[in-house]
Amino acid sequence: MRAITQTTVGGPEVLELADLPTPRLKPGEVLIRARAAGVNPVDAAVRGGYYPLLGEPAFTVGWDVSGTVEAVGAGVSDLAPGDEVFGMPHFPAEAAAYAELVAAPASELARKPKGLDHVYAGALPLAGLTAWQGLVTAGRVKPGDRVLIQAAAGGVGHLAVQIAKARGAYVIATASPGKVEFVRSLGADEVIDYTSNDFVEKAGPVDLVFEALGGDHPEKSLKALKDGGTLVVLLGATDRVAKEAAERGIRVEPISVRPDRAGLQELAKLIEAGKLKVHVARSFPLAEAAAAHAFLAGKPSGKVVLTV
Ligand SMILES: NC(=O)c1ccc[n+]([C@@H]2O[C@H](COP(=O)([O-])OP(=O)(O)OC[C@H]3O[C@@H](n4cnc5c(N)ncnc54)[C@H](OP(=O)(O)O)[C@@H]3O)[C@@H](O)[C@H]2O)c1
Repeated sequence: MRAITQTTVGGPEVLELADLPTPRLKPGEVLIRARAAGVNPVDAAVRGGYYPLLGEPAFTVGWDVSGTVEAVGAGVSDLAPGDEVFGMPHFPAEAAAYAELVAAPASELARKPKGLDHVYAGALPLAGLTAWQGLVTAGRVKPGDRVLIQAAAGGVGHLAVQIAKARGAYVIATASPGKVEFVRSLGADEVIDYTSNDFVEKAGPVDLVFEALGGDHPEKSLKALKDGGTLVVLLGATDRVAKEAAERGIRVEPISVRPDRAGLQELAKLIEAGKLKVHVARSFPLAEAAAAHAFLAGKPSGKVVLTV
């Protein structure tokens, strides 16, 4: 089967198309004939060697997949050949999703949302589960909460804005000027151009911050939070943040996204109810994975996808 592989870490150009063996199924797994694979910043970080989740190459990056079940392994009773599924299997172990055929535990997949093209379903799992697990599972967002979504135009952020709205929150979002209208179109109640405004002054005080930025952002975000609020962090928080949060009764929730069938099913329900839309900035054929990574580095709005 055709798949993307790399024999060294480096820039997008290390991604090459190769002919690799069909993955062998373990008990509980299904073989998916992939139609689309989402491209995420973690793929680029692993490719580049900044985040060595998969050890030394050779390996195949990619976790998001949407496609059709081709075969089922021993012990799988809830999926059958022909079923259309999507998911983010194996994360943070290797899923090798930039490939024509992907082996995945059935328990980590869900039925593709009805009426949603594979290109959009393939873009959804990792970013959508991050937003869902951050806002709903860990953040326990409630109707009426004032929620600040940082990096709202990104793959995760644009879904987080819509999920927070669907849960009845009042959403304040940050974006660069060229993306303010895009984020408003997602339903955000207020969008702050962070390049010409201090988001703490503009947004605060809020009940929950969804912090998809690293560096000193979590510490700054604390200043926008009410005492007793919740800070969901995707890129970790320093001891200083933990100390100030503890003093003010703020719950800090570091997120490390994990496969989650129930979460995928909740995302599918939102899609089918018309409350969640995946914005795909651009899709590339599998063979052009390197170009897709170069495009992602330019911070497009929403998601980048490989079509298989
Ligand atoms: N912990 C986890 O489990 C987990 C899971 C998924 C993702 N992540 C991490 O979360 C981050 C976001 O992921 P993603 O997929 O959404 O990335 P992405 O699609 O590349 O989006 C990043 C966004 O950040 C925005 N941005 C940059 N600086 C900003 C600032 N100062 N204020 C507000 N927005 C800013 C950019 O748009 P502008 O033009 O508006 O700046 C861009 O839309 C990445 O670092 C990723 O690795 C972590």
